[in-house]
Amino acid sequence: MYEWLNALPKAELHLHLEGSLEPELLFALAERNKIALPWTDVEALRSAYAFNNLQEFLDLYYQGANVLRTEQDFYDLTWAYLLRCKAQNVIHTEPFFDPQTHTDRGIPFEVVVNGIQQALTDGQEKLGISYGLILSFLRHLSEEQAFVTLDQARPFRDAFIAVGLDSSEMGHPPSKFQRVFDKARSEGYLTVAHAGEEGPPEYIWQALDLLKIERIDHGVRAIEDERLMQRIIDEQIPLTVCPLSNTKLCVFDDMRQHNILEMLERGVKVTVNSDDPAYFGGYVGENFAALYDSLGMTESQARKLAQNSLDARLA
Ligand code: HPA
Ligand code: ZN
Repeated sequence: MYEWLNALPKAELHLHLEGSLEPELLFALAERNKIALPWTDVEALRSAYAFNNLQEFLDLYYQGANVLRTEQDFYDLTWAYLLRCKAQNVIHTEPFFDPQTHTDRGIPFEVVVNGIQQALTDGQEKLGISYGLILSFLRHLSEEQAFVTLDQARPFRDAFIAVGLDSSEMGHPPSKFQRVFDKARSEGYLTVAHAGEEGPPEYIWQALDLLKIERIDHGVRAIEDERLMQRIIDEQIPLTVCPLSNTKLCVFDDMRQHNILEMLERGVKVTVNSDDPAYFGGYVGENFAALYDSLGMTESQARKLAQNSLDARLA
């Protein structure tokens, strides 16, 4: 990692806590919880991290999350991520978590939230990292299941700044969750959504117009629609872009094809994020380094990207 990139103060606005589960911790938690794994060792698991699309990744990501059982597990997961933030000068983070990934396995909602919340408050106190937690609905599940999750969240309302939408994008447009998001907004949640990662620009329009989102997660396919680009630029709607994720999931064939700097130069409020760092080869710092190494990012572009991330905070 480059020292000058590391030294830039940054915010991370697109990070799935479950996606920060490093293979070493995954194996340690499996042992602690007496769970048999289909991989012989850490290296065998790491070598399974080769994906052709979002769904291939998600299948492994949900399988990995199965080792998370206790409040301590969720604490350890979150704390390990916060130590990475500290090492890379990420001074603020707005992580996602997917409650349904855990409640559907019989893990109580409060076990998940309490473990994460305790680590985040310790991180603020001991590491000086501020935060806002985002509850994300799984879009491959039904509207009704999302409503159940919103109900479960009510006793913990103060723990969250926003609701989000993730998982399999194609075939699950934002419109499917319009009523859930309406309800969430009526309860004071801000909203964000994954849109335009694999899905078409139409999904980004829907996320803006129907879900009334504050930020677009990914959004790289916005560039295919000139009218949408104009709106995003005019309204300065932030995009939480994840370069290493996009290349690992074949959204772009190669980092040299990535459009983040083109968007930046056109006046889009783009930010750099890691998405699922344990699976995609790096944290925010490695994402910045990849843009420098493969895309010719200049120092002034790096500073602008870092400043954008601080400006686009919701908390
Ligand atoms: N896209 C959609 N869902 C996700 C992702 C992603 O990149 N990471 C974790 N869940
Ligand atoms: Zn994501």
